[in-house]
Amino acid sequence: MNDTSQRVDFLLDALTREEKLRLVSGRTDPDGTATGYLPGVDRLGVPEFRLVDGPLGVRAEGKRATAFPASIAVAAAFGPELAREMGAAMAREARALDQDALLAPGTNLIRVPHCGRNFEYYSEDPVLASRTTAGAVAGIHDEDVIATVKHYVANNQETDRVRVSSEVDERTLRELYLRPFRAAVEADVGSVMTAYNRVNGTHMSDHERLVGDVLKGEWGFDGYVVSDWYGTESTVGAATAGLDLEMPGVPVGTEDTDPESDWEWPAGDDLEGEAAEIMGGLPDGTKAGLFGDPLAAAIDAGEVPADRLDDMVRRLLGQLDRIGRLEDEGGESGSGDGSSKSDGELDTPRHRRLAETIAARGTVLLENDDALPLGEETDIAVIGPNVHEARLGGGGSSETTPFRSTSPVAGLRARAAGEVAVARGVDSVPDLSLFDVLPFVGEGEGEQLADEPTTESVGIDASDPSIDAAVEAARDAAAAVVFVRDRTTEAKDRDSLRLPGEQDELVAAVAGAADETVVVVNSSGPVELPWREDVDAILEAWYPGQADGAAIAEVLYGDRDPGGRLPVTFAPEGAYPASNERRYPGVDGRAHYEEGVFVGYRHFDRDDVEAEPTYPFGHGHSYADLSYRAASVVDDRTVRVTIENAADRSGREVVQAYLRPPYSSPVDRPVRELAGFESVELAAGETRTLELELESRALGRYDAEAGWTIDPGTYTVELARSARDVRETVSLEVDSENEV
Ligand code: BGC
Repeated sequence: MNDTSQRVDFLLDALTREEKLRLVSGRTDPDGTATGYLPGVDRLGVPEFRLVDGPLGVRAEGKRATAFPASIAVAAAFGPELAREMGAAMAREARALDQDALLAPGTNLIRVPHCGRNFEYYSEDPVLASRTTAGAVAGIHDEDVIATVKHYVANNQETDRVRVSSEVDERTLRELYLRPFRAAVEADVGSVMTAYNRVNGTHMSDHERLVGDVLKGEWGFDGYVVSDWYGTESTVGAATAGLDLEMPGVPVGTEDTDPESDWEWPAGDDLEGEAAEIMGGLPDGTKAGLFGDPLAAAIDAGEVPADRLDDMVRRLLGQLDRIGRLEDEGGESGSGDGSSKSDGELDTPRHRRLAETIAARGTVLLENDDALPLGEETDIAVIGPNVHEARLGGGGSSETTPFRSTSPVAGLRARAAGEVAVARGVDSVPDLSLFDVLPFVGEGEGEQLADEPTTESVGIDASDPSIDAAVEAARDAAAAVVFVRDRTTEAKDRDSLRLPGEQDELVAAVAGAADETVVVVNSSGPVELPWREDVDAILEAWYPGQADGAAIAEVLYGDRDPGGRLPVTFAPEGAYPASNERRYPGVDGRAHYEEGVFVGYRHFDRDDVEAEPTYPFGHGHSYADLSYRAASVVDDRTVRVTIENAADRSGREVVQAYLRPPYSSPVDRPVRELAGFESVELAAGETRTLELELESRALGRYDAEAGWTIDPGTYTVELARSARDVRETVSLEVDSENEV
């Protein structure tokens, strides 16, 4: 028996039933910083336990932390190693803020381009999402903090998220939506959060088949399953299905949560417009406290097996021990290195640098008609409604408050050697947040944010915005750099893929006047760019976080090659597969995933789909001149290809390997599926041969009867710069003996 199980067994023997029940149901954090809290059991050395939001940084109430780029930007870097570094940095910050578990990463696949949380997720593709997830999970655990992968599963829209049932067949679940969660389990994630939605009629907290059978049984997950906040459906159903921890465990509006507050949970019908829409995406905050006493009663009534409670506590304590928070009888701490919570670090130079590196690495150069990189001495006009503030993220539980941030104006002023004029053009696009509807958040007992953040935002243009003034500034400069953005929050989807307000008019007007127009888009996912043929360059910078202006200046001036590639297809609204009401947002409470596995590029590649992507999955230019040659097969899981950079500058390439299945497959399979990738930096004139490892599950397909199945035959491996830009192909002979 190892030390962990000895310590946990000892505690399971020593804890009373009351104490065990208190360990599976959240309480309010007396310090007011944590998103979720358990008081621990002092007499036995079980410490307090704090869970805190991510995934864009640590959101401890009343505290600042590094605001990292949005998850979709991390995925755009096609760099699981960066996700790992970011996970580790967030975990160090969590420790510095006295937190034990991070409610990150979020890894729902991007099915619907409108989803209000796409910025918190990684990709439409399961291999990219899985590898990025595995990196983030490993990084968080590297620093002895528990990672919580969320939201399990098929939580792909915010509209009606707490009621909707995702109607999805087994093959689609297995080939797409479950895969990043399985990758998290394979990366030894400590916790899984269940989603608010139902799957095929059953609420995810109560989903015995997906939680009990698949996650814990088939995949052997041995950590704990936590509910989403106020997302526990029932006592018996959840306990039987395999939920281990109810959060937050106490209803809002009671003495327990906030004795001072006379605030009441808003009745949806009091609200209008956006607030009403957000309300529709909120859980019922008065419904909590389903574990604890009700669980005791259910055990007494024989409705929940008695040893289920021990199993819940064992799983939780096992993770606490893993991160070094438990002491054994001799006072020795557990297996992690985390015996002392005093370490960790916050807002250190290396975290700031990492936030900047990821923002630049995730930036995608969608178009470039030789306008970029900007010349050193070029006079520029920085234009856009929000150029004086960094784009930190969307609204909701991932909102991180940084110590410092760099606006586009400040970043460009600091970098430019030429003149920098500034014009806002149109009214600023206001942020949108579910916390506008939930005023109690941020008013807890936590220390309030007294200090002012350092906002590098020099050169504020205080005049009333006008398109004419912007056009004039653009005309006087050699290049106009226009920043545009969308508006998103958890609990509400975007109504449209168009940019809000008059931003499209602004870009069109500037493009008509300027010699060169460069547009920087800050968006949560796909947006429509109706002026795209009239401008000279477009960068998709997502939500870059606190380093915004600094990172974008590096890319604009070519100090760094734009390292990002699209983790999601950009296409006209209406061309995506979930574009009818039945599929999204659903009818009668059901969203029918009738497109099956044909999501994202898998849809646009189909013969019968006429719509073309505006920018395909995997797309993004480099400033260098990269070419591919000499692809070959190394073995049945590895291919080799040579990349050359003929430019006199360094550049970053994301080499993508897609698999095309044999024609003889008995079922309709996607034309191609991403099976591997690697992001590499090549020096000027450098030639390098890379070996890419292919994901074994990309070879397979899921058969409802037989499980994962390999169709034997000749597969084609495409070495490509995007799903639509194949540079080399090789054949791979596969027999059915291969294991998935
Ligand atoms: C979100 C979770 C989050 C939790 C706690 C919920 O609204 O869906 O992602 O971790 O709140 O803030």
